[in-house]
Amino acid sequence: MNQQSHERAPALHADGSLRHLLTLEGLPRALLERLLERAQHYSRPLGTPPARSQALQGITVATLFTEPSTRTRVSFELAAQRLGADVASIEMQLSSRLKGESMLDTIRTLESLHVDVFVLRDAQTDVPDLVARNVAAHVSVLSGGAGNYAHPTQGLLDTLTILQHKGRIAGLSIAIVGDVRHSRVARSAWHAFATLGATDIRLVAPPALMPNEQEFGGCARFHRLEDGIAGCDVVMMLRIQKERMTEAAIPGAAEYFAEWGLTPQRLAAARPDAIVMHPQPMNRGIEIASQVADGPQSVIRDQVRNGVAVRMAVLEAVIAGRSSPALSTGKDAADWRQRGPRP
Ligand code: NCD
Repeated sequence: MNQQSHERAPALHADGSLRHLLTLEGLPRALLERLLERAQHYSRPLGTPPARSQALQGITVATLFTEPSTRTRVSFELAAQRLGADVASIEMQLSSRLKGESMLDTIRTLESLHVDVFVLRDAQTDVPDLVARNVAAHVSVLSGGAGNYAHPTQGLLDTLTILQHKGRIAGLSIAIVGDVRHSRVARSAWHAFATLGATDIRLVAPPALMPNEQEFGGCARFHRLEDGIAGCDVVMMLRIQKERMTEAAIPGAAEYFAEWGLTPQRLAAARPDAIVMHPQPMNRGIEIASQVADGPQSVIRDQVRNGVAVRMAVLEAVIAGRSSPALSTGKDAADWRQRGPRP
């Protein structure tokens, strides 16, 4: 399961449509923009009924999570259901030694049960790619977060949330604050922001939580919160990821909050109309004060709401992109299932 030794699974079909979504890195700007437009189409204000369609009728989506998650898993499942798909939800605990093989056995079993789209979350960075390289030609794999490598739908929902509040990405000053080193959320957000033309992306973290110099090319780096968020349009807070800290020292909660916690006083260094984001789960009183998390500049609830819309757009895109004309729409796929393959 060493990624270096393989070609990565291709993200796109030959015609440029989306096949797998494992990272946002390298995806064409036009594709990101199309996904975001479709997500906006599916986005609804709180308090109104959610969008629905039958684009995935006859399609089966399986979520297979080996790391705990509520938000991401539920929002993928709701997205699939609101597009008319059947949904299977699988939680697995695998020993890391056997993981690759047991995972592929499980995938083959589920393929036999007509699963068309797998949504995978794993603590190891290369599991979604391994699966994507081994599925049948009509099957797509979507990452729901892999190690510290990528969380592509989170990157899209963060981008959509910024677009809804600021109308653009290019020209904004965006600070990504906290445990950047261990964060797949930060990596996917950076890929999306850079592709969409952001030029002032700042990493704001204590030295132990700052990624290596080779990563995040083009981002400015700050070691003091107030300096990093000064004049920013967007302050994107990250969770302290204790479970991923091996090399970095784990700071004490009170000590961390004293220097790095986003309080109303500190937030005053950003633009007065700056928005505050957090992917959740939040450590209140560690990386963010409750007054900020629940305050007027917080868009955290919009992020959650947009998660379903973005995942609807991605599911729709991979199903629409399936090359066989017989499989190109949910309805055709349903017919095809009843009839069997054409002779
Ligand atoms: C994140 C994740 O699991 O990557 N949560 C999420 O998906 N909304 C962020 C985190 O764990 O810090």
